[in-house]
Amino acid sequence: MFDDPRWLPLFRLALRTLDLPRRYLPEVPWLSEFVALPDSQLEIGQEFEPPGERELIHKVIEVLEERHRREYPAGVRPMLRDFHTKAHGCVLAKLKIEPDLPSEYRYGVFANPVEYDAVLRFSNGQRPIQADQMPTPHGVAIKLFEVPDPARPNHRVTQDFLLADFPVNLIGTVADAFEFYQAEAAGKPQAYFISPLPLRHHLRAGLIGYLSAETPVHDLFDISYFSQTPYKLGAGNACKYILRPTITPTPNRGQLPAGDNYLREQMQRRLLASSVSFDFLVQRQLHPVRQPIEDASVEWREDEAPPRKVATVVLERYDFERPFTSPWRQWCCERISYNPGTTLPDSAPLGGLNRLRHAVYDQISIMRHRANGVIRREPNNPDDFVSKTGW
Ligand code: HEM
Repeated sequence: MFDDPRWLPLFRLALRTLDLPRRYLPEVPWLSEFVALPDSQLEIGQEFEPPGERELIHKVIEVLEERHRREYPAGVRPMLRDFHTKAHGCVLAKLKIEPDLPSEYRYGVFANPVEYDAVLRFSNGQRPIQADQMPTPHGVAIKLFEVPDPARPNHRVTQDFLLADFPVNLIGTVADAFEFYQAEAAGKPQAYFISPLPLRHHLRAGLIGYLSAETPVHDLFDISYFSQTPYKLGAGNACKYILRPTITPTPNRGQLPAGDNYLREQMQRRLLASSVSFDFLVQRQLHPVRQPIEDASVEWREDEAPPRKVATVVLERYDFERPFTSPWRQWCCERISYNPGTTLPDSAPLGGLNRLRHAVYDQISIMRHRANGVIRREPNNPDDFVSKTGW
């Protein structure tokens, strides 16, 4: 019933309406005497780890590992990722930092106007590998190579950014994640969104889940991606990231193309014609309630926390010598691991969902590398990433 895109505007409006209290209640100071607004005790850039969170994280990891083991019994190999399983391709790129950035943005890899080599993995968010027409969020994971390590002179490290094509996540906190995966493990994932006994609902999560999966996507280079979770921007400041096509795409293209892998085919067509670029933007946190750190399901509205371009990502044109569509490159794309915790300290992940993800991604990545008999390490540079002998 709800798979008609005509529902989308109505659901978007419903989500915006549910978010109104967070926007307007901070404007009414006397209310704070009666209503404790979430996150109002926190400073800008400050995170808060609730008691018992570590135990919940361990329990979520156990549930996910167990499910993954069941889905990949001995003999079913290679063991793939637990989420974002279908890779459309890993494309090599350059990330060029803007010159003359204001000082409040010049932290971590944005500190100097330099150029980094990068590899971007484009993926469908859901777990089973399905035709691209099926509802799913989409993701892009960016790995920068040869980033100078501020702690060790002459050492180079990698830096990851993980983004998806919706501003918020349907799971906002570690407690939400625990409840969600428990419902899923009990075979009743829909009970997380609404259940009569005991009576409970996660209406916002239901709307976010619907909107983030159902919005039709024709071309992965025509959409924007959001980090959803916050990261440090130097000490005492926080930000989120947005990746936005440099050229505004033409909207409204009607029916989705045919072919199970039309998204990869479209990537290939675009890169055969020319290189493709995205603006990389940083959205600074300006208010602890309106732009919370501890709830990834709350949008940091762009009219309240305006994003600023800090870099350009240029995807390389289709390379006939080492095409991103070749089986070898697809295998490299399976091997590579991304993690929100792979960052310079000035861009460290913040908030409960990132604390959870840091641990989960590591565990699942270790598990799949072990199952596939593959050494798990970071590639050092683009040649290393594509080489048959390298990493
Ligand atoms: C409850 C919350 C979440 C959980 C439990 C979770 C879990 C995972 C796991 C286990 C993987 C596979 C990691 C690997 O094997 O290398 C993954 C991949 C990924 N996740 Fe999440 N995730 C969550 C939220 C998010 C959020 C908030 C974003 C960002 C907007 C995100 C973006 C991605 C992307 C882009 C990938 C693919 C990385 C790649 O290409 O290798 N996830 N996630």
